[in-house]
Amino acid sequence: MKKVLVINGPNLNLLGEREPEKYGPESLEEINQQIAELARELGLEVECFQSNHEGDMVERIQAARRDVNAILINPAGYTHTSVAIRDALLTFPGPIVEVHLSNLARREEFRKRSLVSDIALGTISGFGKNSYLLGIRAVAQILAT
Ligand code: DQA
Repeated sequence: MKKVLVINGPNLNLLGEREPEKYGPESLEEINQQIAELARELGLEVECFQSNHEGDMVERIQAARRDVNAILINPAGYTHTSVAIRDALLTFPGPIVEVHLSNLARREEFRKRSLVSDIALGTISGFGKNSYLLGIRAVAQILAT
């Protein structure tokens, strides 16, 4: 069975409590359950990883080239700043899909630049938790072809 690694960056552990008008009412655990359910329907194995630490994210991404087929990532605040996460993602040979809960094009100027978008196959941004579910569908389609 093909395996997808879902990576969530800093502060996403507080989903549901944190600025719910921007990021929605569900907790990360609830979103992860929905991701797991959809992945099962699509015949994919899924692992969900969240960290508030850049180095931990880098290490999980480095290991991904050995143990997963695709990466779905919301790098959160590191989207806009982290050369290290970008460089780690460049070590991964499989498909990478970037997701964001909010629509970055409608946010502050500093959020409009992503260091990940141009190395991802595509970006889904602005659909709340559905960004993840659409992202999983995109990954399933890519892995099937
Ligand atoms: C986010 C957008 C980022 O700018 C922000 O730092 C986040 C969440 C999103 O999913 O909309 O933490 O990645």
